[in-house]
Amino acid sequence: MNLSHKVLRQFILIAIILTIHVIHVHSQTIIPVETADNAVVLQAGVNGDVSCVYLGKKLRSVTEYGQITGVNRQADDYTGLYNSAYTSSGSRNLLEPAITVTHADGNNSLDLKYVSHEVKKISDDVSLLTILLKDPVYDFEVTLCYRSYFRENVIEQWSRIIHHEKGAVTLQKFASANINLQGNSYWLRQYHGDWAREMQPEEIQLSHGIKTLDSKLGTRANLFMPSVFMVSLDRPATEDEGGVLYGALEWSGNFRTDLEVDPQNDLRIISGVNNYASPYSLRSGELFETPAFLYTYSAHGKGFASRNLQSWARNHKLLDGKGTRLTLLNNWESTYFDFNESRLKELLQDTKRLGVDLFLLDDGWFGNRYPRNDDHAGLGDWQENRKKLPNGIAAIAREAQANQVKFGIWIEPEMVNPKSELYARHPDWVVKQPQRPEYYFRNQLVLDLSNSQVQDFVFQVVDSLFIKDPALAYIKWDCNAVIYNAYSVKLKNNQSQFYVDYVLGLYKVLQRIRAKYPDVPMMLCSGGGGRVDYGALQYFTEYWPSDNTDPLERIFIQWEYSYFYPAIASSNHVTDWGRQPLKFRVDVAMMGKLGFDIVVSKLNEQDLKFCQNALKTYNEIKPVIWQGDQYRLANPTEGSVASMLYVNADKDKAVMFNYLVNSRYGEGSRRPVKLKGLEPGANYRLKEINFYPGTNPLVDGRVYSGDFLMSLGFNPDVNTNRTSVVIQLELVR
Ligand code: GLA
Repeated sequence: MNLSHKVLRQFILIAIILTIHVIHVHSQTIIPVETADNAVVLQAGVNGDVSCVYLGKKLRSVTEYGQITGVNRQADDYTGLYNSAYTSSGSRNLLEPAITVTHADGNNSLDLKYVSHEVKKISDDVSLLTILLKDPVYDFEVTLCYRSYFRENVIEQWSRIIHHEKGAVTLQKFASANINLQGNSYWLRQYHGDWAREMQPEEIQLSHGIKTLDSKLGTRANLFMPSVFMVSLDRPATEDEGGVLYGALEWSGNFRTDLEVDPQNDLRIISGVNNYASPYSLRSGELFETPAFLYTYSAHGKGFASRNLQSWARNHKLLDGKGTRLTLLNNWESTYFDFNESRLKELLQDTKRLGVDLFLLDDGWFGNRYPRNDDHAGLGDWQENRKKLPNGIAAIAREAQANQVKFGIWIEPEMVNPKSELYARHPDWVVKQPQRPEYYFRNQLVLDLSNSQVQDFVFQVVDSLFIKDPALAYIKWDCNAVIYNAYSVKLKNNQSQFYVDYVLGLYKVLQRIRAKYPDVPMMLCSGGGGRVDYGALQYFTEYWPSDNTDPLERIFIQWEYSYFYPAIASSNHVTDWGRQPLKFRVDVAMMGKLGFDIVVSKLNEQDLKFCQNALKTYNEIKPVIWQGDQYRLANPTEGSVASMLYVNADKDKAVMFNYLVNSRYGEGSRRPVKLKGLEPGANYRLKEINFYPGTNPLVDGRVYSGDFLMSLGFNPDVNTNRTSVVIQLELVR
């Protein structure tokens, strides 16, 4: 080939590339979803494939999103689908799919092409983007839904699946979201645990292939692993630096999140209901709507992401997120199952004396033929035990009123002990294999909530409590067992729908309860934190992070939860767990929604006085804790001191909690702790609060500028003599 030929060939090549590029730009549809700081950019290509081409910090000019794909020089994508916005399987796909179906004719292929999209403004803050996709061969469609919360930088993504084929289609996999991230490396922070060891973090660099986070437990599904996770880009994000995505599935059952580093080094995240043992049969014309996967991206580290998520929860998801909460005295650890009416009357007086709002009667108040005197019997028989409560709940409720405190009660309505009248009456309501031996978790079995009769029963358990006590002010809803031997009599030949239908049944009941009792506070408990997720939290005002209430342990557990859930939702009880002094225990419990589970009558005078004063202090500072922005200042896993700060929206009030988490000789806050989120130009008066009677606070009325506190910091003087220190900050006008 001579020179002129070479030039001519190059010229033709460039011309072809340019033409393709121009056509591409003109015929592609760019669909950006923007929030205050971020953008997810979807792109419908010439061939109708919809891709997720960008997720990160938003650009100044929307028009430039069209340039994104042009600057990538990645290896070949043999399918054109690696970054699909919803990867369908059985056609060109080579990687993990978001959706897999078996059509009515038995064919397994699916190819989803762009048809149209629409953006609806729902409020000032909230918009909904829907993208309609259709298979050109089969009458099968999926609508991708992106609800974006502008101010909070949060996106909820889910899909609506429907078909009009001649016969049922089986959904083999039906993810909520399929997103794509681009970085040089990916760092996953995930959580695992077990009873009393919830929210144990692990951080790893993701390698090529798939890392799966999942649960197959059915109920109490988070016992081993919750669906919340973080992925940092390029390096592990710190509190204030680095790009990091938080994700979680809004679903109270089996979930599955696949994180796949693909051949082009992109990270594909596909999250949804776990399809394990769950092919779902969808009739012609029937709509299947997946739960939402929620995510928030932060270019400024974990702290910014968590404050966004916490605000989102309070503003949009958590029941009564902007409202108030009740402090309480719970009798679980002070009596366990061993109480009667007169003991409860004493506890009601203690409730009043302590100064909390409510008395919460825990497990053990029900069952007659099979009295609930331990955890082997009685679950399911929600009638007052005549020996313990001869005059019923109504009498306790009256006594509460006489003491001017509110009354709340524990239930575990999804469960049944084999030793119960309910089990004898309705064996067909119980989840168990007809021909296999029963296998128990805490001596109990799960009721089949896919059955509408069971849904009615569970609703009535709650409804009847309000008949007994119309002023009932609080419910602790427990869920202590996982599902073994998954089988529903009701579902007959559709057993593979059980896990999904169970959760949908649970939500139906909760919706009915909320339609009739919209405001009553309910705690989401699950033998500890076995069921904390935003699917459930829209019906609950708070959750129980762990049965482990050792305050030292709680500092770590609450720390990890705080990345994902707001303090107002965290039920923290002062108990006798652990070896820390009472003040330490109370301080730790104050970092959320404060409650007590101790024997008040056994407190000495000083301790009682301290608790009473602590409640007064708490009532003053709780608006800052519940509604303020939370800043993690000193990480207990990195040093001897843990430090957490709450700052209100006006930045004129703040509370800083500090703890010694290492009891070795000489440990303490040697250096000052740098504060965050204050007004640099303003002056703040610092005062130690919640100190034990007879001790002298070391911090008294000193004034510092926000600038000083955030640049140099402040030393709370935490040491072996002062293992927990609470500092109040007030702006000096
Ligand atoms: C679970 C809860 C506890 C208590 C017991 C009662 O373990 O987490 O707080 O309510 O059940 O049986």
